[in-house]
Amino acid sequence: MPIWAEGGILLLEVRNLTAYYGMVRALKDVSFNVSEGEIVAMIGPNGAGKSTALKAVCGLLKATDGRIEGGEILFDGESIIGLRTDELVMKGLSLVPEGRRVFPTMTVSENLEMGAFTEKNRASIKEDIDKVFALFPLLKERTKQKAGTLSTGEQQMLALGRALMLKPKLLLADEPSLGLSPNFVDLIFEKLVEINANGTSILIVEQNALMALEVAHRGYVFRIGEIVLTDSGKNLLSNEEVKKAFLGGQ
Ligand SMILES: Nc1ncnc2c1ncn2[C@@H]1O[C@H](COP(=O)(O)OP(=O)(O)OP(=O)(O)O)[C@@H](O)[C@H]1O
Ligand SMILES: [Mg+2]
Repeated sequence: MPIWAEGGILLLEVRNLTAYYGMVRALKDVSFNVSEGEIVAMIGPNGAGKSTALKAVCGLLKATDGRIEGGEILFDGESIIGLRTDELVMKGLSLVPEGRRVFPTMTVSENLEMGAFTEKNRASIKEDIDKVFALFPLLKERTKQKAGTLSTGEQQMLALGRALMLKPKLLLADEPSLGLSPNFVDLIFEKLVEINANGTSILIVEQNALMALEVAHRGYVFRIGEIVLTDSGKNLLSNEEVKKAFLGGQ
């Protein structure tokens, strides 16, 4: 089976990225890419630098006192280092951050409307909300419910839905399955596959390596700030080292 990146159009290309928090180097010479149509997974132990890599891509390192000390980040062939998050959103990049941040005192539909800050046309916002509801019918039943009172799994759906309101070309998701019950984990991964089938590329960071590699076209394995292995999702799933380290030796 061909690996997508070999034939596909590169959407995101990160070359030799090095990043620091203070004196501590969190990423060293890290290179990865995502082609149009792909789901790409980043796996690795706690503290390996996965979230840092995502934050670097979406311009959020500064907000956490981190900085890029070298390397390039290209989106659609253009350098995006130094762009603000809203500028990145306009280019088609949107992030579902770790810990599903929804606006707790706003309702489900208000949260989705807030997501649509790049779109001014009321009719098309309504259309996009309907698309989110088609993807997550459970949210539709809770349109008027305050987001803070949704269950953890429902909040994760809302966070995903809100990111989709920006109609991203590339959706970045940091640990979307964290803290969810097995049924919700399955559902979230199913939805990611559906979102991808509808034309959105996805870069996902996951502790749940098994699920992530099952849905990913390709994956990268992080260890102490470096990428130590990359291959198709399928090959990584059957790689002995990966099995031992991340898949409970299955
Ligand atoms: N704001 C920060 N200030 C200082 N150090 C940080 C900061 N954020 C992360 N780090 C450090 O950078 C390294 C990489 O962290 P990062 O959050 O990228 O790891 P991760 O692979 O996402 O881990 P996890 O799987 O636990 O989420 C860790 O050693 C972490 O302690
Ligand atoms: Mg992380």
